[in-house]
Amino acid sequence: MSDRKYAGQRPPAMDPAGLAAEVRRRVSPGRFAHVEGVVQAAAELARRWGVAEDKAVLAAWLHDVAKELPQDTLLKLAERFGIIFDDEMAHMPHLWHAPVGAELARREFGVGDPDVLAAVRHHPTGRAGMSPLERIVFLADLIEPGRSFPGVDELRRLSTEDLDAALLAAYDGLIRYVLDKGGLLHSDTVAARNEILLRRS
Ligand SMILES: [Fe+2]
Ligand SMILES: [Fe+2]
Repeated sequence: MSDRKYAGQRPPAMDPAGLAAEVRRRVSPGRFAHVEGVVQAAAELARRWGVAEDKAVLAAWLHDVAKELPQDTLLKLAERFGIIFDDEMAHMPHLWHAPVGAELARREFGVGDPDVLAAVRHHPTGRAGMSPLERIVFLADLIEPGRSFPGVDELRRLSTEDLDAALLAAYDGLIRYVLDKGGLLHSDTVAARNEILLRRS
């Protein structure tokens, strides 16, 4: 990877077929099937909730574009892109693909829309103040047809009926999962959950 590749102007945006082909080139078949599922779920949620479907689909295609890069590559790219990991992020390498993926979306896929980039950047954790597009991509990642975990069908149902309730259930599930594993919990997820609870109280 040459530095020059990342130094120039943003490339022109890709057409949908080119985008899918390029994502397929960068991930395993299993991951690609997941991404296709997220694209489908994001399109459905976008239509249901009146969010721009083209943006939801674009973010869904790109959300895991950096997911299978080795950790040392992710670190090198983060450094090259000027991404600063705080102490929390530095200890959560499974999240690195999100900010790095957002920068790849911008620099290599020609994505200029800040909402699409934010949806990629925050998709594994959520955050307080998420836009409707961010919320949809966050949920689509969890409810895509290939997902099977306890509660996923309830999450699918909630996602079409009450976005806040779906997000709350998603955060609760994510937080329980992390606690059960004894892992680090990203503070953005706590903030996102608290925001919904405070708004609903
Ligand atoms: Fe991801
Ligand atoms: Fe994903």
